[in-house]
Amino acid sequence: MAKHDMHGNKSTVLTVLFAALILTANASAQDRQIEQKVDALLKQMTLEEKVGQLHQLSGRDLTGPANNKNTNILAEIRKGKIGSMLNVKGVAETREVQAAALQSRLKIPLLLSLDVIHGYKTIFPIPLAEAASWDLPAIEQSAHIAAKEAAASGIHWTFAPMVDISRDPRWGRVMEGAGEDTYLGSQIAKARVLGFQGRKLGGTDAIMATAKHFAAYGAAIAGRDYNAVDMSEHQLWETYLPPFKAAVDAGVATFMNSFNTLNGIPATGSSYLQRDILKGAWKYQGFVVSDWASIAEMVKHGYAADIPDAAQKAINAGSDMDMEGFAYSSSLVQLVKSGKVKTALLDDAVKRILYKKFELGLFDDPYRFSDAKREQEVLNDPSHRLIARDIARKSLVLLKNDKQTLPLNKAAKSIAVIGPLADAHRDLEGGWIVKSDAGQVASLLDGIRSHVTKDTEVIFASGCDVACTKTDGFSAALAAADKADTVLLVLGESWDMSGEAKSRTDLGLPGLQTQLFEALQAKGKPVTVVIMAGRPLVFNAVADQASAILYTWFAGSEGGNAIADVLFGDYSPSGKLPMTFPRNVGQIPISYEQYETGRPVQDVKNVVYKSAYIDAPNTPRYAFGHGLSYTDFSYSNLSLSTTSMQPGSTVTVSFDLRNTGKRDGEEVVQLYLRDPVASIVRPVKQLKGFQKIKLAAGEQKRVAFSIDQAMLSFYDSKLKWIAEPGKFIIMLGSASDDIRLSDELQLLDKPK
Ligand code: NOJ
Repeated sequence: MAKHDMHGNKSTVLTVLFAALILTANASAQDRQIEQKVDALLKQMTLEEKVGQLHQLSGRDLTGPANNKNTNILAEIRKGKIGSMLNVKGVAETREVQAAALQSRLKIPLLLSLDVIHGYKTIFPIPLAEAASWDLPAIEQSAHIAAKEAAASGIHWTFAPMVDISRDPRWGRVMEGAGEDTYLGSQIAKARVLGFQGRKLGGTDAIMATAKHFAAYGAAIAGRDYNAVDMSEHQLWETYLPPFKAAVDAGVATFMNSFNTLNGIPATGSSYLQRDILKGAWKYQGFVVSDWASIAEMVKHGYAADIPDAAQKAINAGSDMDMEGFAYSSSLVQLVKSGKVKTALLDDAVKRILYKKFELGLFDDPYRFSDAKREQEVLNDPSHRLIARDIARKSLVLLKNDKQTLPLNKAAKSIAVIGPLADAHRDLEGGWIVKSDAGQVASLLDGIRSHVTKDTEVIFASGCDVACTKTDGFSAALAAADKADTVLLVLGESWDMSGEAKSRTDLGLPGLQTQLFEALQAKGKPVTVVIMAGRPLVFNAVADQASAILYTWFAGSEGGNAIADVLFGDYSPSGKLPMTFPRNVGQIPISYEQYETGRPVQDVKNVVYKSAYIDAPNTPRYAFGHGLSYTDFSYSNLSLSTTSMQPGSTVTVSFDLRNTGKRDGEEVVQLYLRDPVASIVRPVKQLKGFQKIKLAAGEQKRVAFSIDQAMLSFYDSKLKWIAEPGKFIIMLGSASDDIRLSDELQLLDKPK
């Protein structure tokens, strides 16, 4: 904001303040009106109808284990026994179930939900890929388009964003999140919630978001999905909870709890998580949906004796809606009648859900999201594909580029495009897609063909399929490489190797893919490798020998075009890793945010009695925050507005960033802090800020960060949030292992 805007004349400031006051007053008047409507409706409801509001059932497309209980759903809806459905989509289907709800005694509309994880019809890069863009406005826009499309197709509510931090790439669900870092994850959580919901619910281009999975699901032991979590309170508060809190602050409408136990208690039955933290300390007003049958699963965990016991524990603990668990629908009426569950608790859950139905405007018009004309228009809006291509380009990470192998020459005489994923369509979309059409996805081969000159010969050979169990196709691949000047090899996972229930113990390239690479590499021509995957993989031979590596994740509907844009230099890569890439699975869990030991490694050649491995270095293959560009950036002239910080004040850190190369480009500058001596040992560095900055070739800009006391604070041994006076180290760089500038700051214990 320009100076004169900030200090604008008094009357402008007053007008703005006055307008803000009116808006807030209107908002709370509206809230009160909704509360009155909810109360009035609740008074008319029977016990059975109240329980019905807490029962959520799936449509035909199952996203969890099937059960045989979903018979005659329409009849149940008409009886007021179902409050919400998932996995129903499209105007025709959503109208059908909503019409049944309107035949129930109180005509309470259904809430219709779906896993709109990274797009509805237009598929955006998988969430982990988008996180690699570090581009918050782009991420918000992607969620907004997804919401717009889903909302035009009858959906009111998405089960996204997944804000679970994870430092274990064996866990297949890392593809759905924002990676390993709490600060980056919190910023992205906020951007996604705002993208899905807009500034306020109620518009027909916004849907409710869900912060999931509450909590600590990403720390499942050994990366095995649904597994137990055993974690210190300190780590929970410091690392795993903040993205959830960020989602609450951004106004997220709902929460989903998680399948895992946390320190012995299933999250679904945890009063500590749901009542004490979420609805207590954080004063959360939205509602909590269970994960798929997670209430009933408390019996299998050994936490509940039977289904009624599970229902009792879950509702008492604050789980408001039962997804596909049939625990509430089968037991709650009796539990309330017998006094085991208080009516006030049931009412609280029902009110939270009804409130959202009013807020979405469903009582005014239950079909307002199911409009055939809008569905047609919105789902076919060509601008969505352009937006998808833009964020896809920003999500790709250039891991290696020896001797400027990339960008490729569009006018090359011939290009060999090899590999099991070179002509993949469906795989480019990644997991969790709902309404897309893989036939409309451009493969990378398509993208390449549309970029090269008409005289360029593109020679394609897959070599093998993704599983790559046979070498039959290798000779054709090698022959293609022989004929071409440029060799491009596209390797990786198939779309269904990551996501829910897709944990892996071996993170190598599948089957004989590495062998295919080595055979091509032996030809002596520079090989550029594109890797598509839903998680960080381990690919040491490729990392050591390939000339260039572009990590593209699953880049969505426009992935093929976007990757070609980067390969041919129409866009200079700007993505940075949101997760550490290990050298081998034995290093997992791994993160840049480590603690110093009493026996740190000072010399990699001498690790005797040091905190080290005897068979691999401690360092990762590629560090968090790493990502190259086609240009170079220099960092210089660091200055601090003061080196002695008064408590409660802020310090400005600034430096010059210069694009020293010959191409325009974007750099993600990263600010890390360390508290070197504290009452509990602090990590060697923690990300506390970043900016994605675009600079033309030769351009320079002064970049500034403001450091406040919250950024220096942490949870102490009593879980008190404090900043301890003393020295702090400020680090600025291009990656967590590429710090370019650093200085010290003293936090004073009292004002000077
Ligand atoms: C189970 C998954 O854990 C959750 O993320 C998803 O939203 C539900 N199934 C519904 O599909």
